[in-house]
Amino acid sequence: MFNYYLCLLCALVGLAQGTIFERPCRTVEVVQDFQVDKYLGLWYDLEHYEASFEQNTDCVTAEYSRYEDGSIRVFNSAVRLTDGLLYAVDGRAVLSYPEVDVLEAKLNVSFYGAPNDESNYWVLDTDYENYSIVWSCEPLGEDRSLEYYWLLSRTPSLPEDEELREKILTLKHESGIVDDELIVTEHFAEGCKNKRHKRL
Ligand SMILES: *[C@@H]1O[C@H](CO)[C@@H](O)[C@H](O)[C@H]1NC(C)=O
Ligand SMILES: *[C@@H]1O[C@H](CO)[C@@H](O)[C@H](O)[C@H]1NC(C)=O
Repeated sequence: MFNYYLCLLCALVGLAQGTIFERPCRTVEVVQDFQVDKYLGLWYDLEHYEASFEQNTDCVTAEYSRYEDGSIRVFNSAVRLTDGLLYAVDGRAVLSYPEVDVLEAKLNVSFYGAPNDESNYWVLDTDYENYSIVWSCEPLGEDRSLEYYWLLSRTPSLPEDEELREKILTLKHESGIVDDELIVTEHFAEGCKNKRHKRL
């Protein structure tokens, strides 16, 4: 049943590549008074800009918990449906700017024990219980940028709630998320079921 090869760290080249756009980074609003503890737990990736470590993988989830030192454990895992290979990577996140009165939902995420020196995970909006819109942007010179984007959900698809779905579409539109560049993640394939998420 569990005939996956566990391919820890294999082909996961880190958060090196988002998608390059011929436009400068935009100023966006992120969630204020961010509640880290409500944000912890399991999230399903529903769609994202292409990031190298997610190429050709489906069933992508991210699970956030606390390390003993209070930083956030980031456990990403995925299955490549073509051959059933399971991919997983452990990382660490810290709040980018913890020394402020009102916490902003900006985090520095890194993998492989790399320093947390990039503010590369910004929560544009979340209700903690259903969805999270994550984006970040790094300028590449004056007119180009490297953007990351993920739509995360607490369930493998968004709840059947028109209002919620409309809200997310509006937020994506306002944040300049480009639909043409999106990769949609499969969560309902047979191959997703055997993911031993909890046991890794
Ligand atoms: C997060 O990264 C930013 C650079 O983007 C840096 O200024 C900040 O000090 C880092 N925060 C922490 C807690 O390391
Ligand atoms: C999450 O979605 C459900 C179903 O649409 C809704 O009832 C609930 O109020 C939402 N949660 C929050 C915090 O908005």
